[in-house]
Amino acid sequence: MLPAIINSHCLLCLYVFMLQWAANALSLQNPDHALPKRQTPAPTPLVDFQVYEPVLTPSGTSDQYGCIYTQTLMSYVFSNSYGAPFVGEYTPPPCSFNRVTMNFTVTSQGRQFDRLGLMYLGDIEVFRTSTAEPSANGIVWTYVKEMEQYNALWEKDQKVIFDLGNIVNEVYTGPYYTTLTATFFTIPNSRPTADTILPISAEQSAENKGSAFSVPGQNASVSYTLPQNTERAVISLSACGQATEEFWYTNAFNSEVNTFESTAGTLYGFSPFREVQLLIDGQLAGVSWPFPIIFTGGIVPGFWRPIVGIDAFDLRQHEIDISPFLPRLCDGENHTFEIRVAGLNDDGAGHATLSEVVGSYWVVTGTIFLFSATNESVTTGTSPSIDTPLPEIQISSSITTNSTGANETLTYNTAVTRDIAITSTIKTASGSKKASWTQSLSYSNFNSLTDQGFVQLTIQNTTGSDLSSSGYANTYSYPLDVNSSFSVDQQGELGINGTLSRGLDFNVFGPSVFPSGIQNFNITTPSFFSPEGALTPQLIQLSASLPVFSGALLTTTQTASAEYFSGINKSYSFGTTTQDFHFQGAQINSPDETYELYERHVMAINSSVTVDEQTLAGETFGIPVAQPGENVPAPAFDGFSVRSLLGRGPGQPKAGLIGGGGS
Ligand SMILES: *[C@@H]1O[C@H](CO)[C@@H](O)[C@H](O)[C@H]1NC(C)=O
Ligand SMILES: *[C@@H]1O[C@H](CO)[C@@H](O)[C@H](O)[C@H]1NC(C)=O
Ligand SMILES: *[C@@H]1O[C@H](CO)[C@@H](O)[C@H](O)[C@H]1NC(C)=O
Ligand SMILES: *[C@@H]1O[C@H](CO)[C@@H](O)[C@H](O)[C@H]1NC(C)=O
Ligand SMILES: *[C@@H]1O[C@H](CO)[C@@H](O)[C@H](O)[C@H]1NC(C)=O
Ligand SMILES: *[C@@H]1O[C@H](CO)[C@@H](O)[C@H](O)[C@H]1NC(C)=O
Ligand SMILES: *[C@@H]1O[C@H](CO)[C@@H](O)[C@H](O)[C@H]1NC(C)=O
Ligand SMILES: *[C@@H]1O[C@H](CO)[C@@H](O)[C@H](O)[C@H]1NC(C)=O
Ligand SMILES: *[C@@H]1O[C@H](CO)[C@@H](O)[C@H](O)[C@H]1NC(C)=O
Ligand SMILES: *[C@@H]1O[C@H](CO)[C@@H](O)[C@H](O)[C@H]1NC(C)=O
Ligand SMILES: *[C@@H]1O[C@H](CO)[C@@H](O)[C@H](O)[C@H]1NC(C)=O
Ligand SMILES: *[C@@H]1O[C@H](CO)[C@@H](O)[C@H](O)[C@H]1NC(C)=O
Repeated sequence: MLPAIINSHCLLCLYVFMLQWAANALSLQNPDHALPKRQTPAPTPLVDFQVYEPVLTPSGTSDQYGCIYTQTLMSYVFSNSYGAPFVGEYTPPPCSFNRVTMNFTVTSQGRQFDRLGLMYLGDIEVFRTSTAEPSANGIVWTYVKEMEQYNALWEKDQKVIFDLGNIVNEVYTGPYYTTLTATFFTIPNSRPTADTILPISAEQSAENKGSAFSVPGQNASVSYTLPQNTERAVISLSACGQATEEFWYTNAFNSEVNTFESTAGTLYGFSPFREVQLLIDGQLAGVSWPFPIIFTGGIVPGFWRPIVGIDAFDLRQHEIDISPFLPRLCDGENHTFEIRVAGLNDDGAGHATLSEVVGSYWVVTGTIFLFSATNESVTTGTSPSIDTPLPEIQISSSITTNSTGANETLTYNTAVTRDIAITSTIKTASGSKKASWTQSLSYSNFNSLTDQGFVQLTIQNTTGSDLSSSGYANTYSYPLDVNSSFSVDQQGELGINGTLSRGLDFNVFGPSVFPSGIQNFNITTPSFFSPEGALTPQLIQLSASLPVFSGALLTTTQTASAEYFSGINKSYSFGTTTQDFHFQGAQINSPDETYELYERHVMAINSSVTVDEQTLAGETFGIPVAQPGENVPAPAFDGFSVRSLLGRGPGQPKAGLIGGGGS
């Protein structure tokens, strides 16, 4: 789908400069994949990667718009780092900027779980990532992230806190060697960013700690008096499940968690439905139905080497526009902002309601982004009309037994829909206008445990449509289809086989707080992005022919099958993973007329990339790939329990086998 509007004269120049950009941004340049392994003694590390749209970072040190300034925020080894985050100081660059990108590069060698990492500027979470699992020969990955949404923070001194809890001992031998840099620069056509940024967090930076709330257990609420001249306010929610909540989409109804007590163990409960809620002064202001993130140790580790799961290196935050609340929030008084996570409670007879709590635990924070009027006006208006009826919830389940009465299968269905509409009239110095926030969500989940719980099939889909009077619109869907079976033999040797197919559709129009990725293609002044800063005639021509995009359409799918085995003297996990990724630009006035900006089709077999085709603005290029079986890393896959990988089954590897199974 080559956009007709791209002038063919420009394809080559675009190709050359974008190839360089993509190679930088996505670490595509690694030639090691292409080299046959002869008798090379030194093992090369495997290059893990997440597939995502290119992020433009400038080359060189200055251009006509000012300086390009790179600062190292962290160079640190995470070994025994539970409760002991990295703490550093940041001071702003000595020149002005309106864009910031970060480069997080990590190496590790040995055996290690996947770990969650949260980065904060002071008390505000600005990046949630997770680690790839290392191998005996070592791994390396780079993730480049847009950070302009936090410009108001980057303009001041900050305490940088990076909380990546790791454990290194005789069994789990891999520390994470990390480097985090930030690059500051200026582009001519930048978007407005928030004037004030406030955390919904535990605010523990003064004690050199991370500030995430753990729920249930902690009350995830804060209270603020907002600037009275706020004209627009957006809250982003960051939330993911851990431990009994990591595989929430496979969880059972509370009334049925004991169905396979003697085979798969107690199942985790509160149903496979989750809702992250934002409350303002105790009233629902919006929700996030979470994307089913799968970390690199999730289900079958062989799925995620070297292509990690969708968003695993950068967990997406959900935006909720709270502007309709501004007439109330700008009254100079304190107001509370609270995050809750709900699942479902059921009565054992086919009825369910939203639960007050879920299992342990969810890691949650929120961020309040405030856009202020230029003068000291006070925002007033009507109090919000809040239409947030309870969701419609339908559940059903059935159990079959074998001829001697033991439970053989458990099948359960969950369907939830919800509509939210919040409106008010806001009066600011610039006049009176209607403010609105609406969400329309739909969820379905089918789970089938067969073979007395040894096999589980999950088919889920979540779709949503969020709309704000600001012009922001987000439509999304997250289908997930996963089948897993496990076995544990008399000696305690364990195996897991799995197949998976999942997707993420994420379409953003209008003034999102988080960069949607299209600004990288909004090249109205291309000189800035060319390698030497030279304004080539071809690039000027190109810039004139590209439209200015207002919408980003992201569609990606992953399909995979893999096996995991951990035995007395051997362990392995191998498999095949394929990912397709499409990133398109669109204009709000003609959303059906789209421009293919970036595509990638990549396949990995047994840890080697065997197909890698990419298209940047219409130009296709192949990346050198390996033959299947080349470059297979020495395994480091033992020591994990079935329960830590799947969320059901035995929790500890049997005595005598390597490992402790905890996390
Ligand atoms: C990211 O940083 C690493 C080193 O820390 C460097 O090797 C790599 O080239 C950088 N990538 C980009 C796109 O800046
Ligand atoms: C958390 O604290 C706030 C403010 O004190 C209160 O309104 C809210 O009910 C509490 N939430 C929970 C879940 O206890
Ligand atoms: C607002 O709430 C914060 C945190 O609970 C508290 O420290 C502060 O004193 C309150 N301010 C007012 C004006 O009530
Ligand atoms: C069979 O499943 C039911 C419902 O979950 C449970 O109450 C019962 O204990 C199970 N039976 C056995 C033998 O595990
Ligand atoms: C500033 O506020 C005053 C009223 O308080 C208004 O008359 C004026 O137009 C405002 N200026 C701007 C730039 O909005
Ligand atoms: C039913 O399942 C139980 C528990 O696994 C098993 O002991 C029993 O032999 C099974 N009965 C038949 C008829 O297969
Ligand atoms: C998920 O739902 C979306 C929106 O209804 C739909 O377009 C998509 O086909 C569904 N995906 C699957 C795998 O069912
Ligand atoms: C799920 O996996 C089991 C065990 O490998 C297999 O028997 C079953 O056919 C699979 N189900 C689907 C729908 O693929
Ligand atoms: C996984 O599949 C292999 C065949 O490829 C089979 O030998 C093994 O028993 C299966 N393991 C599980 C847990 O289903
Ligand atoms: C694209 O550039 C235009 C100016 O040419 C600017 O108004 C707009 O905000 C930019 N969009 C993004 C997403 O950066
Ligand atoms: C495992 O390896 C050890 C040491 O090499 C050996 O003594 C033992 O027999 C092996 N066990 C099995 C079951 O192969
Ligand atoms: C992947 O590895 C497994 C186990 O070593 C092997 O059986 C299979 O043939 C390999 N697949 C390919 C395509 O090389």
